[in-house]
Amino acid sequence: MTQPDSVNATAGPGRELPDVSELVVGVLGGTGDQGRGLAYRLAKAGQQVVIGSRNAERAEDCATQLGLGVRGADNATCARESDVVIVAVPWDGHAETLTSLRADLAGKIVVDCVNPLGFDKQGAYALQVPEGSAAQQAAALLPDSTVTAAFHHLSAVLLQDESVDEIDIDVMVLGEDRAATDTVQALADRIPGMRGVFAGRLRNAHQVEALVANLISVNRRYKVHAGVRITDV
Ligand SMILES: NC(=O)c1ccc[n+]([C@@H]2O[C@H](COP(=O)([O-])OP(=O)(O)OC[C@H]3O[C@@H](n4cnc5c(N)ncnc54)[C@H](OP(=O)(O)O)[C@@H]3O)[C@@H](O)[C@H]2O)c1
Repeated sequence: MTQPDSVNATAGPGRELPDVSELVVGVLGGTGDQGRGLAYRLAKAGQQVVIGSRNAERAEDCATQLGLGVRGADNATCARESDVVIVAVPWDGHAETLTSLRADLAGKIVVDCVNPLGFDKQGAYALQVPEGSAAQQAAALLPDSTVTAAFHHLSAVLLQDESVDEIDIDVMVLGEDRAATDTVQALADRIPGMRGVFAGRLRNAHQVEALVANLISVNRRYKVHAGVRITDV
C-alpha cells in the first residue's frame, strides 16, 4: 500500500489539506525573532512572504537581509497584501495592534501565535487574559477576520538557525472554521519536519499558549529548544 503524502497526513479521515502554495503570508511584527524566523522558514519552503513592522523601512531592511523574495512593509500594508496574516507582536502590543488593523485584516485568515506570559524569579508563568487567551482576544477584536491560533511552541532560535534543516515539532492549530484551520495546518506542513495538527477551538487556546511557560522551564533545565509532538495521529 502506498504511504500517504506527508502533506495530507494530518487532515483527518477522508479529507485532504488544501494546496496553499500560492497564498501570500504576512507576518505582523515580522522584524522580531519569532516573526523573522517564521518568515524565513515559510519563504524557504516557497511561500510568498511579506514582513510587517510599525516602520516600513525596518521591515524592508529585514526583508532584504532574509532574501528569498521576502518583501517588507508597514503592518497595515502587510495585512492588506496577504491572504494569511500571522500575528507575531509582543503580548503588550497585541490588543492595540489588532484594533488599529481591524479594517486591513477584514476577510483574512489571522494566525495568532502570541503567548501572554509573565516572568519573575521563578521563571515564566501564564498571564490571565480577560477574554480567555490571546487568540480569543484577537477574535473579539477582529469580527471581520477568521482567527486561528498556531505556532506557539516554536523556538525562534531554531527557526532562524540556517544550519537547522528540519524543525522537529507538531504545530497545534486551533480555530472555529475548518477551512481556515486546514489552511494553517497545510502551511505548517510546508516546513520540513513540522506538522500541523488540529487541536480544538479557540476556547481551548489558553492552555496551548500557557504551555510555553512549561517549555521555557524545560529549556532552562536541559539547555535545549524543546518542542511538542502529538502521538497516535
Ligand atoms: N520568541 C519566541 O521563541 C516565540 C515563540 C513562539 C511564540 N512567540 C510569540 O511571538 C510574539 C513575538 O515574539 P518575539 O520574540 O519575536 O518578540 P519581539 O522580538 O519582542 O517583537 C516582535 C516585533 O514586534 C514589534 N513590536 C514590539 N513592540 C510592539 C508593540 N508594543 N506593538 C506592536 N508591535 C510591537 C517589533 O517590530 P517593529 O518595531 O518593527 O514594529 C518587534 O520586532 C510574542 O507574542 C511571543 O509570545 C515567540
